Amino acid sequence: MEHFSNRLAVITGAGTGMGRELALALAKEGAHLALCDLASDTLEATATAARALSPGLTISTFLCDVSDEGQMQAFQRHVADAHGTEAIHLLFNNAGIGGGGTITDPASRPAWDKTFSVCWNGVLHGVRCFMPMLLAAEDAHIINTASINGFWASIGPHTPHTAYSAAKFAVKGFTEALITDLRLNAPHVKCSVVMPGHIGTQIVANSMKVLQQDPAGLDEEAIAAARTQMVEAGLPVANLPDDDIRGLLRARAAEFESSAPTSAAAAADIILQGVRENRWRILVGEDAHAIDRLVRANPEGAYEPALVEEMYALGHFKGLVRSVESS
Ligand SMILES: NC(=O)c1ccc[n+]([C@@H]2O[C@H](COP(=O)([O-])OP(=O)(O)OC[C@H]3O[C@@H](n4cnc5c(N)ncnc54)[C@H](O)[C@@H]3O)[C@@H](O)[C@H]2O)c1
Repeated sequence: MEHFSNRLAVITGAGTGMGRELALALAKEGAHLALCDLASDTLEATATAARALSPGLTISTFLCDVSDEGQMQAFQRHVADAHGTEAIHLLFNNAGIGGGGTITDPASRPAWDKTFSVCWNGVLHGVRCFMPMLLAAEDAHIINTASINGFWASIGPHTPHTAYSAAKFAVKGFTEALITDLRLNAPHVKCSVVMPGHIGTQIVANSMKVLQQDPAGLDEEAIAAARTQMVEAGLPVANLPDDDIRGLLRARAAEFESSAPTSAAAAADIILQGVRENRWRILVGEDAHAIDRLVRANPEGAYEPALVEEMYALGHFKGLVRSVESS
């Protein structure tokens, strides 16, 4: 698909980050938009900004949780009604949250299951619910957002990262399998898997809200668990009072956004260029290209601390993964 003018694009998780920037970039190019998110304030802010950029477009919003199939079916009906059409051209399954680090602790199961479900079921429901509208278009493109964690299941040797990584591997595998499925059964529908490195967004703060782990609301037990995790990761916080641990959690979320090498707007441009060029595999950021090369060069070494040190030596991962030496 070489241009987006007059196309209809569906974007999940359009309230902030890459989803919002995709919406704005597509509006600038004249695409009509159907946007969903969990959070109404940020979702409406995206829609207002997109309308201001291109006043003649049809831009609709819908509140829904992508991990709930019934809500995604309702979103699909909304898109058909609000846009008066049976067809969509672009489907960005972008919504995602981080969390659910370890599977060894039964107490972390709600966060584990929610993270896995948003990141995996969100994509599956998106593709299933919107398939009839994709099939009805003259040409269409599905864009599923995975992560570098879709081919490297780690954020470094100190931190368990199982739910998110497992879901992102699933998104990558599903999208790769779709290539042949669509070629055989719906050749006018293309697909891409997006694998961003570290992008400057509010994903850490947003995920804490979704998982009800906002630092201000955490009780003593939850703070103790966070402290233990930080100590195990080598941070000298064993004797810090609870409020300081809350402050550290907030600072970590802010630092994730401010220290990223690639902005959400730059990421959106890279994603849309990949769609224009009909590439099924879209890496976003120099860090994503670098870790892709290292993992391919030495798959057995992918989870050894030396790999992270190599990324550090190349100038990557500074704000994302704690180095081995710093612990
Ligand atoms: N930021 C990064 O470094 C990075 C790296 C790799 C992959 N990703 C992926 O990129 C995608 C976009 O993330 P982002 O970094 O822009 O984060 P973000 O938090 O800024 O944006 C995600 C949006 O999705 C929404 N959302 C969360 N759960 C939802 C649900 N259940 N239903 C509907 N909406 C929901 C949030 O409210 C938010 O507006 C995610 O899939 C994420 O996993 C991000």
